[in-house]
Amino acid sequence: MKIGIDRIAFATSNQFVDMAELAHARHEDPNKYLIGIGQKKMAVIPPTQDIVTLAASAAKKVLGPEERDHLGMIMFATESAVDNSKSAAAPLIRLLDLDPHVRVAELKQACYTGTAGLQLAKGQIALHPEQVVLVIAADIARYGLDTPGEPTQGGGAVAMTVRVNPRILALEDDAAVVTKDIMDFWRPFGCDAAFVDGKYSTEVYLDFLADTFAHYQKMNGRTLDDFAALLFHLPFTKLGLKGLRQLIADADPKVGARLAQQFEAAREYGSQVGNLYTGSLYLSLISLLENSTTLRAGDRIGLYSYGSGAEGEFYSGILQPGFAAQFTTKPTGQALASRKQVSVPEYEKLYDAAVHGPAECVLNADDDPADFVFTGVHNHIRQYEHREN
Ligand code: CAA
Repeated sequence: MKIGIDRIAFATSNQFVDMAELAHARHEDPNKYLIGIGQKKMAVIPPTQDIVTLAASAAKKVLGPEERDHLGMIMFATESAVDNSKSAAAPLIRLLDLDPHVRVAELKQACYTGTAGLQLAKGQIALHPEQVVLVIAADIARYGLDTPGEPTQGGGAVAMTVRVNPRILALEDDAAVVTKDIMDFWRPFGCDAAFVDGKYSTEVYLDFLADTFAHYQKMNGRTLDDFAALLFHLPFTKLGLKGLRQLIADADPKVGARLAQQFEAAREYGSQVGNLYTGSLYLSLISLLENSTTLRAGDRIGLYSYGSGAEGEFYSGILQPGFAAQFTTKPTGQALASRKQVSVPEYEKLYDAAVHGPAECVLNADDDPADFVFTGVHNHIRQYEHREN
């Protein structure tokens, strides 16, 4: 039985800051951000958006009548939780007007859990082939203004439906996983920005890639030649490029050149959005499918998922006939191109206005064109609205 991703969509805010402008403001050479980090633009998330509203916007795009009728489970992957107890999936039932007879839960292991959600969804569908599972990967990456991590911020949500006979990517049973207790990146209770040992985190990312890929090859006997493209978790796109270069160092130059060409298609949207933690690998999948011109049904795509703390997984999927149909109009590319640019002072103001923890506050969402908005907190309860624009 083939099980995998049937539909996939992305949502972020309608505004970005230009990375060259940010570099000037931070007295850095723009090429450090553009080439050294590999980022061109960074999504600026206004205070009226959070993981719930971003997730609702992405999920709305993948939930048609058929998906709604068969929805059995929602797995919400995030490390930007807005509550210590309640799952961010629960408000989606009301906001998206879903049948409440559905299992929901929030998953946490840093940026890794979009993949955990997909693998759990595969297990659920194996037991209940009549169902559809919604997997959400939504985050807002925050390191603080004028910190080394600042140029690797960003945010957004990827929504995926998983079912039998998927139209995009059938997930193979071939995953190689590694988990170790490592302090490379963490966010203690009460902190709204992450602590990170930046250089160490990049080393662990690359070590876990080497470990999982070697383990994958041992388990499955495949070589690089078996892959049409390789996708990476992209906290910043240069790190994925380093991962690719590490894997292809001793490969046949033709294979290396092909994988490098696909990587450029796969990193385009990440370079325009920044890090969205759990969703970054899956935004890269969208970017590949919208921007590559050489992929064919039956091609094997390799995916490297990484979450600090730390967990890595390498697995693969097979492109399905008709996979291209959902991407011909490049919906994500169009949405990214229509965003408005904000200045660095405007971005800083919006960054500082993010709401973390007050019992009461009211937010004016008049300037936010999104269908779903966060309008404040009343009596410790976050207030969400669904507006039809
Ligand atoms: N032109 C071209 N390149 C330049 C340049 C210039 N003028 N100036 C600098 N560079 C290059 C540097 O040589 C360097 O490249 P290499 O890594 O290839 O050597 C690159 O730009 C970055 O420069 P620095 O190393 O000096 O940058 P930094 O110390 O200021 O910070 C960082 C880099 C550590 C990644 C920091 O941005 C950070 O802490 N980011 C957050 C942590 C992170 O994303 N970690 C990723 C792994 S963890 C993970 O994956 C989970 C997750 O999502 C967070």
